[in-house]
Amino acid sequence: MQLNIQPVPLEKAFRLLNHGPTVLVTSSHQGHANIMAAAWNMPLDFNPSRVAIVVDKKTYTRELMEASGTFAINLPCRAQAELVVKVGSSSGRELLGKTPDNKFAAFDLPTFAASKTEAPLLEGCVAWLECKIISEPHIQETYDLFLAEVVAAYADNQVFSDGRWHFEEHDALRTLHHVAGGFFFTPGEGFTTKP
Ligand SMILES: Cc1cc2nc3c(=O)[nH]c(=O)nc-3n(C[C@H](O)[C@H](O)[C@H](O)COP(=O)(O)O)c2cc1C
Repeated sequence: MQLNIQPVPLEKAFRLLNHGPTVLVTSSHQGHANIMAAAWNMPLDFNPSRVAIVVDKKTYTRELMEASGTFAINLPCRAQAELVVKVGSSSGRELLGKTPDNKFAAFDLPTFAASKTEAPLLEGCVAWLECKIISEPHIQETYDLFLAEVVAAYADNQVFSDGRWHFEEHDALRTLHHVAGGFFFTPGEGFTTKP
């Protein structure tokens, strides 16, 4: 298990996604595990904690998500930008029957075990949300849209504390926000306003 992790109360888990990061979706079923990039995600509710995410029909991730009923959202950081593009530009399905037979081994990605789902959690990320799919066959089939309940959430203490992100001292740990064709923003200057 990665050091420096704190559990995030489920009713505060939406704050991990409020600022619109590009994420990595991990999924696993019967010994097969996979990982892909997903920019189209959002918080949906805080109590119970829910999220929405678009996962295309052609992805192997989706096959494992639908088979297991679960997945995990991993928030990668600036230091992981290259691997986000790698796992978002190749399919785990193409590796089946080969050596290595999965993206984690192919790209040398260390993981640790989730607490409530099967999906592996990627080390080096700055937050993780374990999710159980809320079955909505119509929107899954028609819009590739998945709704899920967050059943566990964690964040890296270095950049998430007092219920919010603090990236000021940690450029390499800033989250990624995809713009186009492998070009990303990282979060900029923060400020507070009072009502
Ligand atoms: C930065 C980035 C963002 C992406 N966002 C999404 C997304 O929101 N939804 C989606 O279905 N695919 C998205 N993709 C594409 C998948 O990651 C891609 O199809 C991947 O190869 C699927 O892998 P798999 O077949 O191993 O699951 C994105 C790719 C990149 C590089």
